[in-house]
Amino acid sequence: MFSRNCVLLAVFSFLVICPVTTVAAQPEVDPGSASGFPFQLRYNYYDEKCEDLEGIVWSKMKTIVKLQHNAPAQLLRLMFHDCFIGGCDASVLLADRNENGTVEREAIPNRTLKGFNFIDTIKDEIEEECPGVVSCSDILVLATRDGIVLAGGPYYPVLTGRRDSKESFFDKAMAEIPRPNGNFSETLRLFSVRGFDERETVALLGAHNIGRIGCQFIRPRLSNFTGTGLPDPTIPPYFLEELRRKCPDDNNTISNMLNDEHTDTARGLSVSIATSLNNHYYKTLMRGRGLLFADQQLMANEKTAAAATDYAIDDGNIFRTEFAHAMAKMSNFGVVTGSKGEVRHSCSHLNS
Ligand code: HEM
Ligand SMILES: *[C@@H]1O[C@H](CO)[C@@H](O)[C@H](O)[C@H]1NC(C)=O
Ligand SMILES: *[C@@H]1O[C@H](CO)[C@@H](O)[C@H](O)[C@H]1NC(C)=O
Ligand SMILES: *[C@@H]1O[C@H](CO)[C@@H](O)[C@H](O)[C@H]1NC(C)=O
Ligand SMILES: *[C@@H]1O[C@H](CO)[C@@H](O)[C@H](O)[C@H]1NC(C)=O
Ligand SMILES: *[C@@H]1O[C@H](CO)[C@@H](O)[C@H](O)[C@H]1NC(C)=O
Repeated sequence: MFSRNCVLLAVFSFLVICPVTTVAAQPEVDPGSASGFPFQLRYNYYDEKCEDLEGIVWSKMKTIVKLQHNAPAQLLRLMFHDCFIGGCDASVLLADRNENGTVEREAIPNRTLKGFNFIDTIKDEIEEECPGVVSCSDILVLATRDGIVLAGGPYYPVLTGRRDSKESFFDKAMAEIPRPNGNFSETLRLFSVRGFDERETVALLGAHNIGRIGCQFIRPRLSNFTGTGLPDPTIPPYFLEELRRKCPDDNNTISNMLNDEHTDTARGLSVSIATSLNNHYYKTLMRGRGLLFADQQLMANEKTAAAATDYAIDDGNIFRTEFAHAMAKMSNFGVVTGSKGEVRHSCSHLNS
């Protein structure tokens, strides 16, 4: 639980780092303005049933990230896809086929979601310690939060008490996961129906500070963009050449750190500093070097460009604060609580 002081600190300080302490307080970040019944979630929901839950998740995540540096990015994207479709209810984790023979986790964009194995590993350990109590949706949200911290991003408090959905939503995922070539109006619409304003949307896209992007999502920009016969005109010529070199076919991937690496190499520095969730994403957008069309589109709208510019020109603290708030808000979107849903025994399968 977080003391009132700590919550205020979280709101007004730049670094959102609070010691885990006493007393329930109304969360400052309105958890579910768009979702209805958020306050059935609480801090330390598992205090009696699984006291050391957060400790277990944190220590597992430390081990996982040591072995797989990209784990935080994979989990962050997985959580985004989960929360966006049907709420943060672990529906994305289900591998069971529904009556149409489809599962949400295989919907657009084309089976590139990863990180399921990390959730399974953490769930196994938790089932040993406190069998049948902790939902997969809570684990995904906690593991993602810890991954963000381990990737150098901000800490934010997470409420718990989510339950797992009994279905997955392939059709909805096909229709409502933002497309890599979506324009800003499409992107903003998909976020706004979930209660995120322009600035929060720009902050959330800052997740693209870390991880990798498949060339299959970039190459459509490099020639005959949207059937025009020409490359995407918003790509500066020197960057077009660079992307063509790095994406000779669909099988390659590009690091979201590309632009950091570029700068570092130019200065003859090691690339190792380019591993943290900082604000370089926004700096690259200001130079026209967004990897996806949807990324670069943030500079094509007055409000989103203003937010991206705020994040870029500061030392990273404005982004850290607003990203923390937006992630805390997304974590509570459309949650399943009370007697709805179930607590899955295995995250990829329904209990019965
Ligand atoms: C307009 C909105 C968005 C679009 C079009 C989009 C699209 C994509 C695409 C196409 C990829 C590459 C996937 C691959 O090659 O495997 C990707 C990667 C990623 N996305 Fe997004 N995304 C959006 C918003 C978000 C948000 C809101 C988050 C999280 C808060 C997020 C987190 C990530 C992360 C962390 C990766 C790297 C994954 C990895 O390394 O495995 N994205 N995104
Ligand atoms: C199955 O497909 C139909 C038609 O596309 C759709 O209306 C229905 O929601 C789908 N069912 C599930 C469980 O996805
Ligand atoms: C994704 O899958 C759909 C249907 O399975 C296919 O039509 C489309 O070309 C694929 N897109 C990419 C980028 O691989
Ligand atoms: C943005 O994308 C939507 C959906 O594809 C489309 O209807 C709209 O015309 C596009 N807007 C612009 C300005 O291109
Ligand atoms: C570009 O795409 C359009 C529409 O998909 C297609 O009709 C045209 O033949 C393509 N042009 C080239 C040069 O590939
Ligand atoms: C890319 O992947 C596809 C499908 O996995 C494969 O058929 C193709 O040979 C690969 N191309 C290259 C250049 O490796």
